[in-house]
Amino acid sequence: VNPETERLLEAYELTAKLYHFLLKNTEHGKAAMDYLRSRGFSDKLIDQFQIGYAPNRWDTLVQFLEKRNFPLEEMEKGGLLSQRNEGQGYVDRFRDRVMFPINGRSGKPIAFAGRILGDGQPKYLNSPETRLFNKSRVLYNLHQAKNAIRKQRQAILFEGYGDVISAWDQEIQNGVAAMGTALTENQALMLKGMCDEVIICYDGDRAGQAAALKNFPILEEAGLQVKVALIPEGLDPDDFIRKYGGERFRNQIVEGAVTTTKFKLINLKKNHILLEGGGLIAYSREAVKLIAPLSSPTEREVYLRELAAEVDVSFETLKQECNEERQSMK
Ligand code: GTP
Ligand code: MN
Ligand code: MN
Ligand code: MN
Ligand code: MN
Repeated sequence: VNPETERLLEAYELTAKLYHFLLKNTEHGKAAMDYLRSRGFSDKLIDQFQIGYAPNRWDTLVQFLEKRNFPLEEMEKGGLLSQRNEGQGYVDRFRDRVMFPINGRSGKPIAFAGRILGDGQPKYLNSPETRLFNKSRVLYNLHQAKNAIRKQRQAILFEGYGDVISAWDQEIQNGVAAMGTALTENQALMLKGMCDEVIICYDGDRAGQAAALKNFPILEEAGLQVKVALIPEGLDPDDFIRKYGGERFRNQIVEGAVTTTKFKLINLKKNHILLEGGGLIAYSREAVKLIAPLSSPTEREVYLRELAAEVDVSFETLKQECNEERQSMK
């Protein structure tokens, strides 16, 4: 390995340990610890995910790295430090943030996500792309989840770090997250190498649902079977688990995840149900268009029967409409 890469890896490893130590054992970390406690993070979880705290000072890490003879210029390029705004020299990139290490394949930290305590912008400050960290090729928690993913032949894709951690706390150990909401082909292929099925479990808000719609084709194109979990409006998986517990999350959310066709139908309905009168007919028509291209007659029948019950039109009528649609597709 290139010596600069080696040095940066070592710096990340030491920095993660430093932040973790500062969180757990010093006065500096107290407010962050209180914040984590208020969110329900146990000591065990804080250790398992090596969560830390970057103090509200400009030079904690600068001094730490300098003392250990790390070239500061390299550390700045490596995303741990920032250039001083005025004058020469460097300052800590992360200040007064709860630090979540992001680990690479080997399990070593290669980047950080730093969350502000409470409200403020940006909520998460992430490491920039560096020689260690290419965010489109990393999945948060994959190093710990890979065994469970292989064993269960299934992964759960979350939106946030907190969701992954909360699920892990409830013994759901096949959870990972992309950095932000955009999923890449590369990340999909990483999962395809370990399992057959991915459950997308994004937040129950507009952004989360839009991201699920955008990302499931990327997983399907990688050859994965995809299901989408339906989280109640206004909650994310972390909120859901804290509110209703892990058992209900498993039974209702994970077990209740729907096929991507069903998910599209649900979205279609949401968009049409807002309209009066004509909404139901338009929904019914578009739903049939969505169902018609499915190659399995059984699948088509199942969805058409569900639709028939929903819109109060006979199955036979919908089937006829579906067949006409299939004719016109040829
Ligand atoms: P909590 O409020 O801590 O529970 O965060 P969350 O994980 O629920 O955050 P949210 O649903 O708002 O966002 C999901 C994911 O998007 C986060 O885990 C981050 O990866 C990313 N994200 C959210 N806010 C920011 C931000 O301000 N900057 C960047 N770069 N990423 C963000
Ligand atoms: Mn969100
Ligand atoms: Mn969220
Ligand atoms: Mn949120
Ligand atoms: Mn959250």
